[in-house]
Amino acid sequence: MTLKKYFSWKHMLPNCIKPQNSSPGPKVHAAKQSPSLRLSLSDISHPGSPLSLSDLSNSLMSLHIFTLKELELITNKFAKSNFLGEGGFGPVYKGFIDDNLRPGLKAQSVAVKVLDLDGTQGHREWLAEVIFLGQLKHPHLVNLIGYCYEDEHRLLVYEYMARGNLENQLFKRYGPPLPWLTRLKIAIGTAKGLAFLHEEQKPVIYRDFKTSNILLDLAYNAKVSDFGLATDGPEGEETHVTTCVMGTEGYAAPEYISTGHLTTMSDVFSFGVVLLELLTGRRSVDKTRPGREKNLVEWARPLLKDPYKLDGIMDPRLEGQYSTEGARKAAALAYQCLSNHPKSRPTMSSVVKTLKPLLELTDIPIGPFVYIVPTQENSEPIIQKIVPNDHQEKEFEVKIERNGGKKDEKKEKIARLPRRKGHRHRNRVQPARSRAIYSDTDLYRTLGTKLYSPKH
Ligand SMILES: Nc1ncnc2c1ncn2[C@@H]1O[C@H](COP(=O)(O)OP(=O)(O)OP(=O)(O)O)[C@@H](O)[C@H]1O
Ligand SMILES: [Mg+2]
Repeated sequence: MTLKKYFSWKHMLPNCIKPQNSSPGPKVHAAKQSPSLRLSLSDISHPGSPLSLSDLSNSLMSLHIFTLKELELITNKFAKSNFLGEGGFGPVYKGFIDDNLRPGLKAQSVAVKVLDLDGTQGHREWLAEVIFLGQLKHPHLVNLIGYCYEDEHRLLVYEYMARGNLENQLFKRYGPPLPWLTRLKIAIGTAKGLAFLHEEQKPVIYRDFKTSNILLDLAYNAKVSDFGLATDGPEGEETHVTTCVMGTEGYAAPEYISTGHLTTMSDVFSFGVVLLELLTGRRSVDKTRPGREKNLVEWARPLLKDPYKLDGIMDPRLEGQYSTEGARKAAALAYQCLSNHPKSRPTMSSVVKTLKPLLELTDIPIGPFVYIVPTQENSEPIIQKIVPNDHQEKEFEVKIERNGGKKDEKKEKIARLPRRKGHRHRNRVQPARSRAIYSDTDLYRTLGTKLYSPKH
């Protein structure tokens, strides 16, 4: 792949990107004052900052600095066959680091993200990734292994997440749906990741929480990725930071959109949207749906607190195989997260506390287990083990799909139970939806804000 021509990164740092505390005070380079404190993005990205990227080396000691040549080598010259996908930052390629690349770096698969020099993001987003992920390590944040900063080239090297992003897994057209317990596990994992960010000594506001930024490993462990829009939260007496509105349509909190005031509670709102997507199997914005249904929050929020209506909005692809009590509690939690009043939303650590016990609930109308035969897409089998009660056991019916009497390895074995009362959509599998196109850029357009000026 040819890396395109780059222009000065300062063009990518319009003033609006630099968050301002609600009452401006003297600028403090916390990292210089106290080495125990994390280096802030503003310590280095502010045009007047005395710090440069090379000053980062002490704070970012865990990161490897790769040469472009090394990254070409591990991605087979950014071969098409290694292409994993592309977002606003640029294309992402799979690579493999072997034992010989450099001492101290173990052999492993990686994902290499290349800044598209003609794209909507730039040096600022690259720098945010390096500064935040270079200093913050947690099992539910994607691990940044290193970066490349050579001439105009900006690349990032992450641990490879074998199942890609949650958006593709949750809304895929073919293959088995994500089971209920896997959805809960993902929600809990990402909630822990956000709680960690919010509870840092210098809190971090993530600002772009959405399904495409949640990556999954083989065992469906979820990790938050993409720190390009992350920013330092308010410090001391401050209640919020004021920034230009950035994020993704359908996920951003209403008060942030209307005032530009950003708090950790804005992330809680976005988490509520993702939780709602996990419950309903619908996208946060789906322009192909009629009227109010286009916007998931607008459509679903009024129905979340009514247990009779809840069954009707749960993802039909779950075919009723979820804990009723768990769904009610998760829906009530989503309702709280989606409150229009930031102060009424729970903190992320209280979200974790509410969700964790739901994994133990066994009122799932399902046989002793569901075994989904591995396919090309899902190389690992998914096994969900639940102990049914007596009457469920009797009614339990197993359907094994066969191909001409022979077992078809590519088809699924489905353990199925009779209809759940009142679950209107149980056996109706939605027709494949066309992918709604939404991106950060769409939001800027929707809001008509002139504060952020993407290159196009
Ligand atoms: N560490 C990783 N391991 C495996 N796949 C990855 C990794 N990081 C990114 N990807 C894949 O690369 C693709 C592009 O990801 P990227 O985060 O750049 O864009 P996006 O999240 O789809 O869009 P946006 O710009 O709105 O954030 C996605 O399909 C994602 O799943
Ligand atoms: Mg992303």
